[in-house]
Amino acid sequence: MTEQAVVVRSSFSRVFARKAELTNRFYHHLFLARPEIEAMFTKNFGIQKEMFSSMLALVVRALEQPKLFYLLTDKLRKQHAPLAINREQWKAAVDALMLAFREVLQDDLSAEEDAAWEAAATVLIGAMAVPDDGPKIGESLV
Ligand code: HEM
Repeated sequence: MTEQAVVVRSSFSRVFARKAELTNRFYHHLFLARPEIEAMFTKNFGIQKEMFSSMLALVVRALEQPKLFYLLTDKLRKQHAPLAINREQWKAAVDALMLAFREVLQDDLSAEEDAAWEAAATVLIGAMAVPDDGPKIGESLV
């Protein structure tokens, strides 16, 4: 992960300068791929989007700090556990994140960065997924 983490970090500011757009595109693609997910969101969606992008920024910064990364993803895992998100839905989240990155950055996203972000997204989602139901940490989803 280390080399990829460096690539992710170096392109981080370009992605997160447009985090509102990134978040909108993420949910758009997630709900398009798995329409049943939309109904899971019952609270203020504007606030939800802010929490999502803030948390995404935090976990990305923590990619090279295993203890912090574990603390953050453990919290996310516990927050999402009651939702019983299944394997296909987690996989859809990786795909939706990647589609969002590609749409927001377009030609600004190199092939190397694309691959690095995909690896990072897979690690993040793998760490968030409930162990008995979702993929294991490190197991490739793509
Ligand atoms: C298939 C993927 C995902 C699904 C179905 C999902 C679903 C949800 C739902 C239903 C909530 C509760 C919102 C509400 O009560 O209205 C939530 C909260 C949240 N999600 Fe996700 N989520 C997914 C992926 C992610 C990812 C990848 C992140 C990482 C940044 C994330 C970060 C959060 C945060 C920060 C909250 C707020 C928790 C709180 O209330 O404090 N989610 N998610």
